[in-house]
Amino acid sequence: MAEERSQWNSRFGFLMAMIGSAVGLGNIWRFPNVIYYNGGGSFLIPYIVALFILGISFVMVEYALGYRFKSSVGKILYSIHNKLEPIGWVILVIIFLILSYYVCVIGWDLIYFVLSFSQGWGADPSTFFASGVLQASDGLEGIFSFVPWVLISVIVVWATIYTITRSKLDKGIEAVSKILIPLLVVMVIIIVAFSLTLPGAFIGVTQLVTPNWAALTNFDVWLAAFGQIVFSLSLGMAIAITYSSYLPEGSKLVDSALTVVFSNSTFEVFNSFGVFAILGFMSLTSGIAINSLITEGSYMGMAFIVFPQVFNVMGFGAYIIGPLFFGCILFAGITSAIALVEPISATITEKFNIKRSISATIVCGLGFLVSLLFTTQAGLFILTIFDSFLNNFALLLTIVIECIIFGWIYNFDNLIETMNEYSTIKLGKIWKFVIKFALPICILIFWISGIQSTILAADLTSQLIMLGLSLVIIIVPIILSILPAKNEKYYDVIDEI
Ligand code: PFF
Repeated sequence: MAEERSQWNSRFGFLMAMIGSAVGLGNIWRFPNVIYYNGGGSFLIPYIVALFILGISFVMVEYALGYRFKSSVGKILYSIHNKLEPIGWVILVIIFLILSYYVCVIGWDLIYFVLSFSQGWGADPSTFFASGVLQASDGLEGIFSFVPWVLISVIVVWATIYTITRSKLDKGIEAVSKILIPLLVVMVIIIVAFSLTLPGAFIGVTQLVTPNWAALTNFDVWLAAFGQIVFSLSLGMAIAITYSSYLPEGSKLVDSALTVVFSNSTFEVFNSFGVFAILGFMSLTSGIAINSLITEGSYMGMAFIVFPQVFNVMGFGAYIIGPLFFGCILFAGITSAIALVEPISATITEKFNIKRSISATIVCGLGFLVSLLFTTQAGLFILTIFDSFLNNFALLLTIVIECIIFGWIYNFDNLIETMNEYSTIKLGKIWKFVIKFALPICILIFWISGIQSTILAADLTSQLIMLGLSLVIIIVPIILSILPAKNEKYYDVIDEI
């Protein structure tokens, strides 16, 4: 017998889960790096433009679809056109692969969270991270040698994610988000408030807000703004589609979407004041300029190198701020990871007519197996390739495809009607224009320029791994679409096109 479709218990629970899906590593560490390297204060201009053109517009599409169809992403695409189901699975396979390495980064963070109580990273955090924690090799060497602590922490993180996602929606994702997100906010407020009192904080904050207007004429700065919005809001990952499909009738969609988008941006802008205050402090104490403290691109490793260095010289306060900092990443990471599981397990549940707990077991079990790759000595090397290929290349392409499907093949006016039905703020025709033209064109430009930096500039081993990933992203969805649904309702068309 089919399980009853899940529903959120409260609007607050839904908002917390949505904010939880968006607020993650991208906000805590990636954003401060991106803003710093792309013109400081003046970066807020391309950032806000990207937020409106891309962020808000696309999130609204996902909300409207989920809410209107009340189905999983696989079924929604099948309903729009019976040849489109594989696209749904492509999105799901991509987020599955993202999840498999994201969990590993949360695992590293868990190790640092534990170490932060005793500053167990020692006097040289940089060597400790590469050789002590990750035991990383430069290439594929060591792919069969597991790194025990990373393996153990990845098991713990997967077990946590599994426990949450196998439970009923309101007892699992909703309950956990309702606790973790408010806690996260309080923790970040404490970190920022404390950081601003540190000597040298002013130096860091000044660096952050000083605008470099010339940067606005640089194409890459605009690309960085769009990239940050995609990453930070988890766009194109079908999370908002899935979460809003669990909303009850009568929900104020536009209001909710705006709350989530602005909370996410406020969180990252606010948090970057704390990060820069801390960097200012470090710069004052060590005499090293802030720009030498931040290395472009390596935002994941940086949280685990620069911050431990800062905590080492901070004195007693570090024993409070350290665990709070790594605790924040842990909470933000977990709430994002559970959001990556849900679209996949929702589609499996719906298509194969199995219990939610069984789908979660399949997703988490397989996810764990893939994650094992990242717990080896070659883990960091492979992870970096997965990250750039999936985020800069595969995901962007699916966003363009989604714009074409929802803007051109589907009757977009249906979505306008759905969004406006109960909302206080109404959406106009401009939204349709953005989705049909502005957004796909912008992303396509972004995507083409990314081919050079992501694929052509990579070494042969990386290119072969990317080829392997591309095959997985094409073949697995075809197989999953061909497999017949066990639930005959899966093939019901639910909307007039
Ligand atoms: N939006 C979340 C973050 O900023 O970390 C979650 C996320 C984004 C997860 C991108 C994974 C990812 F590739």
